[in-house]
Amino acid sequence: MENNRGQWGSNFGFIMAAVGSAVGLGNIWGFPYKCGATGGGAFLLVYLILAAVVGVTVMLGELAIGRKTGRGAVGAYASLAKKYSWVGYMGVASGFLIVGFYSVLGGMVLRYTLGFLINLFGGTGFGVDGFFGSWIANMPGMVGFYAIFMLINIVIVMGGVSGGIEKFSKIAMPCLAAIMVIVIVFVACQPGAGEGYKFLFVPDFGVLASDFFNVLKTAAGQMFFSLSLGMGCMITYGSYLAKKEDLASNSIIIPVADTIVALMAGMAVMPACAAYGLEYGAGPGLLFNSMQTVFLQGMGGTIGNIMGFLFYFLVLIAAITSSISLLEVCCAFLIDKRIDKGQEPARKKMTIIMAVIAFIVGLPTALDGLGTNVAGGAWMNNPAVMFNLPVMAATADWLDFYDFLAEGVLMPLGAMIMSILIGWVFGTKMIAEECEASGKPFKAYKYFDVCFKYIVPVIMAIVLYAQVTSFIG
Ligand code: PHE
Repeated sequence: MENNRGQWGSNFGFIMAAVGSAVGLGNIWGFPYKCGATGGGAFLLVYLILAAVVGVTVMLGELAIGRKTGRGAVGAYASLAKKYSWVGYMGVASGFLIVGFYSVLGGMVLRYTLGFLINLFGGTGFGVDGFFGSWIANMPGMVGFYAIFMLINIVIVMGGVSGGIEKFSKIAMPCLAAIMVIVIVFVACQPGAGEGYKFLFVPDFGVLASDFFNVLKTAAGQMFFSLSLGMGCMITYGSYLAKKEDLASNSIIIPVADTIVALMAGMAVMPACAAYGLEYGAGPGLLFNSMQTVFLQGMGGTIGNIMGFLFYFLVLIAAITSSISLLEVCCAFLIDKRIDKGQEPARKKMTIIMAVIAFIVGLPTALDGLGTNVAGGAWMNNPAVMFNLPVMAATADWLDFYDFLAEGVLMPLGAMIMSILIGWVFGTKMIAEECEASGKPFKAYKYFDVCFKYIVPVIMAIVLYAQVTSFIG
């Protein structure tokens, strides 16, 4: 029955899928802005240290747990110790919360990609003036594109581990890298781009000295979400990895690739904004307003439409390879249950069931106009208005509310608990054994032992504290 779950066809395919999961909207939105706004090169230094120490350790822990048990998030914890399966359930819950709003954003990216394509063929209606504002209030449009994006996810995940996720990622990720290079080079040729690199890279060590905690928490939160950690995604992907593959080196390759793409994204987005004098800004404004203006008004003409199409197409690829990993976490939960009962996995059916539930859970994030509410033309109000709560980041719109529950609470908590369980309950020997199963010696045992037991729990506690305070602050 074991093989019924599916397996990666090759280590390269696994890496493409895992890097695909890691590289997503977080890299293209979050990283460039946070890096620039919190000390540039100084932020980068902190980020790199955290990724090398905490990111690699949690990655290794998740991949090892997944491969050892051959189960997704819930099944993995259940087979290690029944009484800890709730940690796995937290991961699946995060999956549900994120895959919905991620797909709403994915649907918007799809709309923008098509907008540039239609412009290229002489169409009209995709202009700069107020497009963003009117689109988020266009409920049939928002929900329709949300549904299309979810459908793309369903088709890929239904195809299975090697026949769907791996096959898609193996083509998509190299494409993404190639398009990124084209955009970076093109942007670099625009006069005025230099300011963008300065914003991104010039270290401001003053920030580090005066506001170290802020830099630390911003970098840690970003690193962690960007690497798809803390929700069982890498447990699930690890569970499809053959025993002969080297876990330790994979745990390093994925964060390195993710960081390179984040830097590349910064080198595309920030200099583009700088060249045309646009706000760097954070969040939806940066991706859906500033960047659209860059291509339509800054560059303009056919070349603007071509570059705009390429840029949004690459964001679309990044979003799809991430959202399929989120959906897979949910699907693996049902498939594992069936296999444990001796039934066929019925992947196609399970995928549809989970996607429909996720779609319904995510609907409010498409229906509140990103917090512009009924007053702004949307069909639903944000959590603040609906439940009469004080307005704060976590209640300003449904997207941020879900993000708060998942990225703010469940994910850092999940990673912290996993690390404590590995360090103090299951024992780090378990990780060493799983690494050595590939036939290679696990050289850095002492180092990882200290990371699992002390460093990761402490850093994750800081992230948890910082996330909660920033969402409700
Ligand atoms: N890592 C993805 C990004 O950077 C988001 C993600 C988080 C994907 C958790 C899967 C799991 O956008």
